[in-house]
Amino acid sequence: MAAIRSFLILLCSITAAHAVTVYNQVPLRAHPTSTSVTDTSAPSASSAYTGLAAYDTTRLNPPAAPSPLPANQFGVFLMPTSDMVQGIGIQTKSSFAGLSIEMSVTNQVLGKDSGHINVPFLNFMALLAERAGEVVIRVGGNTQDYATLVDKTPNGGILGKVQEDTANPTNTPTLVYTEDLLYLMGNISSFLPIDWFLGVPFNDTQNMHMDIVERGERILGERVLGFQVGNEPDLYARHQHRPEDYGPQSYFQEFGQWRDAWNNNANVQNKSNLIGPSLALATWTMQQVWDTGFLDTYQNSLSAISIERYPADNCAAHYAGVGTPVNPQDVIGNYLTHQSGVNIVRDILNSTLLAQQYKKPFIMFETNTASCGGFPGISNSFTASLWGLDYGLQMVYSNFSHALFHVGGQNVYYNPFTAAPTNESYFHQWTVGSLFYSLMVMPEVLGKSNTAQVVDLFANGANDYTPGYAIYENGKIARVALFNYMTVSAGGIAYDATIQIGGGQSGIPSTTPQSVKVKYLLADSVTELTNITWAGQTFGGQFETDGRLLGDEQIQTVQCDTTAQTCTIHVPAPGFALVMMSDEAAANSEATTTQTFSTTAVTKTANTAVADASMIAGSNGHSGKDRSSLGSTSKGSSGAGKAAGVVPGMTILFTALFGAFFFMRAMSS
Ligand SMILES: *[C@@H]1O[C@H](CO)[C@@H](O)[C@H](O)[C@H]1NC(C)=O
Ligand SMILES: *[C@@H]1O[C@H](CO)[C@@H](O)[C@H](O)[C@H]1NC(C)=O
Ligand SMILES: *[C@@H]1O[C@H](CO)[C@@H](O)[C@H](O)[C@H]1NC(C)=O
Ligand SMILES: *[C@@H]1O[C@H](CO)[C@@H](O)[C@H](O)[C@H]1NC(C)=O
Ligand SMILES: *[C@@H]1O[C@H](CO)[C@@H](O)[C@H](O)[C@H]1NC(C)=O
Ligand SMILES: *[C@@H]1O[C@H](CO)[C@@H](O)[C@H](O)[C@H]1NC(C)=O
Ligand SMILES: *[C@@H]1O[C@H](CO)[C@@H](O)[C@H](O)[C@H]1NC(C)=O
Repeated sequence: MAAIRSFLILLCSITAAHAVTVYNQVPLRAHPTSTSVTDTSAPSASSAYTGLAAYDTTRLNPPAAPSPLPANQFGVFLMPTSDMVQGIGIQTKSSFAGLSIEMSVTNQVLGKDSGHINVPFLNFMALLAERAGEVVIRVGGNTQDYATLVDKTPNGGILGKVQEDTANPTNTPTLVYTEDLLYLMGNISSFLPIDWFLGVPFNDTQNMHMDIVERGERILGERVLGFQVGNEPDLYARHQHRPEDYGPQSYFQEFGQWRDAWNNNANVQNKSNLIGPSLALATWTMQQVWDTGFLDTYQNSLSAISIERYPADNCAAHYAGVGTPVNPQDVIGNYLTHQSGVNIVRDILNSTLLAQQYKKPFIMFETNTASCGGFPGISNSFTASLWGLDYGLQMVYSNFSHALFHVGGQNVYYNPFTAAPTNESYFHQWTVGSLFYSLMVMPEVLGKSNTAQVVDLFANGANDYTPGYAIYENGKIARVALFNYMTVSAGGIAYDATIQIGGGQSGIPSTTPQSVKVKYLLADSVTELTNITWAGQTFGGQFETDGRLLGDEQIQTVQCDTTAQTCTIHVPAPGFALVMMSDEAAANSEATTTQTFSTTAVTKTANTAVADASMIAGSNGHSGKDRSSLGSTSKGSSGAGKAAGVVPGMTILFTALFGAFFFMRAMSS
């Protein structure tokens, strides 16, 4: 019998009696103080800012352009089919880039509980889903290792905090959570094709807690893709979570205990969805784990092989005794080079080959610009947009199957999106992070056929400032991705890449098209924080987004030289160009229309009005035109809302401006 259930989705909690306790990957503290930032020539705003990292507007200077400058014109010769391309990566899914959400901030990011899903979150996910067909999200991180299922948390919410784990430099709180967190995830997946990775509390092999596996499987069904068994085990000893001599063999044994627990648990149906070893590559190598016999012993239990890597850390800014804090201005250049991604994957390449032998996906389970929260002015600027795309494509080329970019709390710089602080959620919307542009562009680069194969072009004589990739779909050349890491105001130059398919090489006939379509990811400088556009569309600035794109989509058509059989593509400094080499390739990059979730429905009072699902249908449409017509997403009204926040009657004004959004959804079960 069909049961009708209703629930509410509420953009912002109008009634918030208590501020929800906020947990973060790093402690509440400002980043480097003025005394620890030694280079006084660097912008000093960061030493003045003491608010939450996610809203820090510190801007750095773009690094000086390389000397000598790269050539500003070069050719790109492409083979028409992937079987002619030596060393090309294996096929990957369009949903390659996903999210890793720290378990302790799920109530900030996903929603308050199963009845209150954050609408901006749904909208951001809808943008990914309509491009990639699905979104993969891992809920976990340091906090999963101590997370305990309870019937009720002290504050009554889905999450609660029990104690500080002061031994851990990432200062992980011990978490309690209720089953409703899993229902929240399940309800999110009932709106959008979102699949989840979870993790077990690995801290205690004497008393193994399988609740998350039992309930996760029961509540999320096929939406749960697997369970991480151990999170960065090569850091356990350093963080004093295990004895000092805890080594790869110790992890191998404990993994076996969990494997046995799985096999012996009658409440767990799927015995082959464990994921490991999730090294941080901090103190062990992958090879040391392979040497224990890990893959041969556990191959029937493993659904994927995992690793967690950040190219740098900003821990010294937050903890004493871990070195001198890094001045972000000194390291921004490290991210504005093709070498960054190449260096991260270098030590992992023979393990991704090994994964192919064992027929297992190899997943970058957690990554971002820098651990311990990222760097101000880097992790949240256009630098991260370009870096995330280049690094992501480097991972595809290197035979990874997914890369999950980490989302921390409001105390980190690298979030792809951040909710307004709880006490300000009446009048502020969300803040997009520059990395969200990378996540959104990635499936367009790969195309929706789920057959993408990527090759690094070593473009422009393998220049680190002007990298490029070719993308093949169903074995045929589909797209070219071109980066320019330089900034004009710092002496950088735009370039023109002249693309040719076949012809000029080994007697292969030319199949260069007559014209190509091009989409650009642009900002004026690599240090720009908010004025970033993808094909002319943007999410606006701080506190200005409800997760929908603003503006009209602009796709350029470039006429090719039909005599020379070449297409010349201009790439600004800085910038990224996606060149669609055929109509089919362009079509595969287009977002399909899926539902977006309106936050503009005006309701009279927060607790009475209920709109039906047709309200959502009315806000559908993937063109920027449709979306930008939805009034409250404009910058102007957000500013009005901000002003309104400080005057009496705020709630009513807020409701009129942004609306609390409710609807009833009929579900049969
Ligand atoms: C949504 O959450 C409610 C609990 O609030 C639960 O009863 C329902 O089964 C959930 N739906 C899904 C699809 O998980
Ligand atoms: C593991 O974590 C849980 C939850 O914090 C705690 O109750 C338990 O004592 C821990 N076990 C060990 C061995 O530290
Ligand atoms: C178990 O989970 C894995 C990973 O999601 C999946 O590939 C496999 O089909 C599942 N097996 C069963 C028996 O459901
Ligand atoms: C992978 O490469 C590293 C470094 O080159 C080497 O030490 C290790 O033995 C290799 N492992 C495998 C599985 O080939
Ligand atoms: C990716 O896998 C393919 C197929 O096994 C292989 O030819 C290629 O060398 C691998 N790429 C890298 C960078 O290891
Ligand atoms: C919200 O809390 C933050 C941090 O405590 C504070 O800086 C800010 O002023 C508060 N906002 C309002 C509107 O009270
Ligand atoms: C955003 O950048 C564009 C150029 O990329 C510029 O024309 C525009 O004025 C900028 N907008 C703001 C608000 O700074």
